[in-house]
Amino acid sequence: MKFAGSDQYVATADLMLAVNASATLQRPLLVKGEPGTGKTMLAEEVAAALGMPLLQWHIKSTTKAQQGLYEYDAVSRLRDSQLSGIEGAEKVKNIENYIVKGVLWQAFEADQPVALLIDEIDKADIEFPNDLLREIDRMEFYVYETRQLIKAKHRPLVFITSNNEKELPDAFLRRCFFHYIKFPDPATMQAIVDVHFPGLKKELLAAALKTFFDVRNLPGLKKKPSTSELLDWLKLLVAEDIPTSALQSQDERVSIPPLVGALLKNEQDLTLFEKLIQMQRHNR
Ligand SMILES: Nc1ncnc2c1ncn2[C@@H]1O[C@H](COP(=O)(O)OP(=O)(O)OP(=O)(O)O)[C@@H](O)[C@H]1O
Ligand SMILES: [Mg+2]
Repeated sequence: MKFAGSDQYVATADLMLAVNASATLQRPLLVKGEPGTGKTMLAEEVAAALGMPLLQWHIKSTTKAQQGLYEYDAVSRLRDSQLSGIEGAEKVKNIENYIVKGVLWQAFEADQPVALLIDEIDKADIEFPNDLLREIDRMEFYVYETRQLIKAKHRPLVFITSNNEKELPDAFLRRCFFHYIKFPDPATMQAIVDVHFPGLKKELLAAALKTFFDVRNLPGLKKKPSTSELLDWLKLLVAEDIPTSALQSQDERVSIPPLVGALLKNEQDLTLFEKLIQMQRHNR
């Protein structure tokens, strides 16, 4: 069981190594990296490549660890007890009918090994990762309401992504294998674009990549455009039939690229960019 990238997803050698290392260690793979560098997609692609179903748990600021295990629906039970007749009373008596299984439980009880994605773990409060330590370590948890111990039939392949909005606790980090997805170098980026736009004209791609890296390397940008933004931009360039010449400035200096709204996402960055171009024109 080795992951070697896929025809949808370009995985660098160190990323493949990390995926396989976490599988060997049987520890979750903690993936960090700039937004849009393929963290979420990695889990989808590995699951597809290894033929495993993928269970996804998208974390919000209000998500609690317990919700991944199970929730006891006391409100429904109370309502049923007040409204139902004799046949309903049977249902109400059995508390199991009101236990709602969470994603972890579903992963634990699956008959085949599954992949489990805990996406954007840094969105939750600081207690969240600590509350999952035992479950991740031992792959089991206890349901107090029904006095059941739920143990994983197969250890799931766990992916955890983070955008670094919060530090993760040391005890949690100890249990993971860590990988940082570096921003793709131009050659890797070219390979990623090829996957998405196989028929793109060479000159257009070269000019677009140059403009993209020029914009990205502007000092002082608040939000640097990432892979997914480059892909959006290319899609627009193709859809609007923008000629390659519109991307190349005659004198090798940066100019405002067409449809720049796909790359720069706030007015400060736009102003910064415009100022730089004005300064360059001035200095000519
Ligand atoms: N290595 C890659 N190969 C192919 N496509 C990629 C790659 N990296 C990123 N992409 C493209 O970028 C898009 C965004 O990727 P994804 O949603 O996985 O990013 P993310 O890192 O999870 O971002 P966020 O932190 O904002 O959630 C994908 O849908 C895909 O089209
Ligand atoms: Mg994501």
